[in-house]
Amino acid sequence: MFHLNKPDDLKKAFYAEKYLLADNAALVLFLAGEINKPVLVEGPAGAGKTDLARVLARTLGRRLIRLQCYEGLDEGKALYEWQYGKQLLYSQILKDKIAATISDESDLAEAMERVFAFEDVFFSERFLQPRPLLEAITSTEPAVLLVDEVDKSDPEFEAFLLEVLSDFTVSIPELGTVSAKTMPRVVLTSNSSREMSDALKRRCLHLYLDFPDRETEMEIIRLKVPDLGETVAHQATAVVDALRHMSLKKSPSISETLDWAAALVSLCVEHLSDDVLDRTLSVLLKYERDLAQAREKRSELTRAMGKA
Ligand SMILES: Nc1ncnc2c1ncn2[C@@H]1O[C@H](COP(=O)(O)OP(=O)(O)OP(=O)(O)O)[C@@H](O)[C@H]1O
Ligand SMILES: [Mg+2]
Repeated sequence: MFHLNKPDDLKKAFYAEKYLLADNAALVLFLAGEINKPVLVEGPAGAGKTDLARVLARTLGRRLIRLQCYEGLDEGKALYEWQYGKQLLYSQILKDKIAATISDESDLAEAMERVFAFEDVFFSERFLQPRPLLEAITSTEPAVLLVDEVDKSDPEFEAFLLEVLSDFTVSIPELGTVSAKTMPRVVLTSNSSREMSDALKRRCLHLYLDFPDRETEMEIIRLKVPDLGETVAHQATAVVDALRHMSLKKSPSISETLDWAAALVSLCVEHLSDDVLDRTLSVLLKYERDLAQAREKRSELTRAMGKA
């Protein structure tokens, strides 16, 4: 078990979970825990944002509660919903009991008043479906709350999220105010498909996760695909680096590098040749246009492999 008293301890704990945490990332995560702030992690697709939150939960021994954001996500899906189907079913089952209770009431308004008295029964926690935000707030054990791809949600939802993140208290009209029993660690991720508001940024510590340099990517390969030979791994990271310097529609990310590394292991490649590169390039590049451009500039890639 690690004692996470300083950023370096976090790095070691992450390493044990096969995640190579950069110095700046370790510092931000450490400080976020110390001063109790959410972390907003931005960066390109496949740079390790979601995994960072997953691994943080594992290293802290906490449950990960994930809210996946998308266009149209609303409070109901993020906070709680009443289970209307269940309410209906129970009211059907209790139909006779309800009828008996109001049977001696001839006046409609009076009967209605008596039915109102049952409202508490049907709008109780029993019929409440907690969604990730409420789960994090009511969790008896402190959790890690991951608000993933927050940039995909609408600005209205972001405003609501701000409210929740500012005091971890939510008001459920039928039940009253619910305050956090334990404080969750919060990680928000964004691919920057839209700018997040200054208000959100102000409440969070910011972390930008970019693609790693070649040496760091080598380390990640050693951690995640240890069966790949050193020579090929050097050549592979050189190719990936060269591809990232081309103006492609989608540069290969760490996840593509790792997929490629695994593919090269499966093919028992010990030395990267032009032929192998050509046959496996589609693991790295996901657009025909990018593939065509990379093939056109094959000599650059060959040179990079050679140097490695
Ligand atoms: N520093 C790292 N150390 C080890 N593995 C890493 C690192 N960074 C990324 N990875 C690996 O790369 C893959 C992609 O990471 P992840 O899914 O977290 O990316 P993401 O930034 O959330 O992407 P997206 O924006 O598409 O959701 C995962 O397999 C993850 O383990
Ligand atoms: Mg992700």
